[in-house]
Amino acid sequence: MSGWKRIDPGPMFPDARPELPIGTVLKPEPYRIVQKIGDGPYSVVYLADDLDRGTRVVLKRLRGQNSPELMKRFEREARIMKKVVHRNIVQLLGYFILKDFGHFIVMEYIKGERLDAFVERVCPLGKQLPLKLILHIMENLLEALEVIHDNNFVHRDIKPQNIMLIARSDRLPDVRLMDFGVAKVLGGNAPGTYPGLTSRNIQFGNLFPIGSAEFMAPEQIETQDHEGVLPTTDIYAMGVLLFYLLTGVPPFVADEGDVNGCNIMAKHVKNDPPNIRILRDDIPEGLAGSLEKAMDKRQARRFWNAKEFLSAIREITGPLLPVIVAEPRTLRGFQIPRPRTDSVAPTGSVTQRPMPFRKP
Ligand SMILES: Nc1ncnc2c1ncn2[C@@H]1O[C@H](COP(=O)(O)OP(=O)(O)OP(=O)(O)O)[C@@H](O)[C@H]1O
Ligand SMILES: [Mg+2]
Repeated sequence: MSGWKRIDPGPMFPDARPELPIGTVLKPEPYRIVQKIGDGPYSVVYLADDLDRGTRVVLKRLRGQNSPELMKRFEREARIMKKVVHRNIVQLLGYFILKDFGHFIVMEYIKGERLDAFVERVCPLGKQLPLKLILHIMENLLEALEVIHDNNFVHRDIKPQNIMLIARSDRLPDVRLMDFGVAKVLGGNAPGTYPGLTSRNIQFGNLFPIGSAEFMAPEQIETQDHEGVLPTTDIYAMGVLLFYLLTGVPPFVADEGDVNGCNIMAKHVKNDPPNIRILRDDIPEGLAGSLEKAMDKRQARRFWNAKEFLSAIREITGPLLPVIVAEPRTLRGFQIPRPRTDSVAPTGSVTQRPMPFRKP
């Protein structure tokens, strides 16, 4: 998904830490680095062995070393994860800081396939994901979002790259939402919450939006100081995701030469999304209506939160449910392959344990 535009005008990293070589052992935990599995603007993500427990974990490491703002922001990401406990959300296992190596989030290893990779693999040009799988993914994500919104957070970066599918032999895949790196805490600086993000560098008009251009709601682009970013902002992104699952592409994509995503953002603000009924003819009326409602440019007209969107989706899933139960293994001919077992250990063995925030 090289063309997708992550818009996040936070501070950049002239002070980036050098990569951790494979085999590095971080003490006193101890964790051993197995391989790099992700590389974002703010952090590098590693698969690692927890040598005490004999399990695989994921370590997300803050890239820079001298920015107090980014350290605070990274710690806040961990604190948000600690609060949003749900079977469809990646689980935090710990957070630690090492003098020589920096800041780390420890989380469960999700041994699955990223949603963007899955869609590209099973939906080459012209092929479509089965409706029942789409509804299943939407339901699972909306359940996760319900917990996030109930805790007064807005995820703000719902997109396929932050979603994993875990293949199951006897049912539709499990779904996990990840990456609270740009989540917003509602209620500002009230006790128990964390200060809002400040932003700079990338400009849209005189504004500084945060998020991923293809999935950004108009208010995420247009409101000063991110004031307008509310649970309804995630609802819009879920609408975009629904469109993407139905068609294999997001509703608004970059025109040639749009290197920083401004052109996509302008479309979110001004253009109507393409008519889904024309692009796909098997969509129940209720689903097309829900998509329109979720992607309404006026926040007040959208589903107000994940719970509302979820009930609308469940009304559509209800009648389809017997079909889902009857055909658990194949998805209209698309067998979801079991994940590879050659290079990685199963996730199931990760022990759940309370891990306090600590600074050795
Ligand atoms: N717990 C996990 N299990 C398996 N893979 C993961 C896990 N966490 C992250 N990844 C992989 O690493 C990639 C990057 O992780 P993540 O989305 O958290 O960070 P990022 O997008 O680089 O964020 P940031 O902007 O905060 O630097 C994911 O897209 C996914 O492929
Ligand atoms: Mg991410």
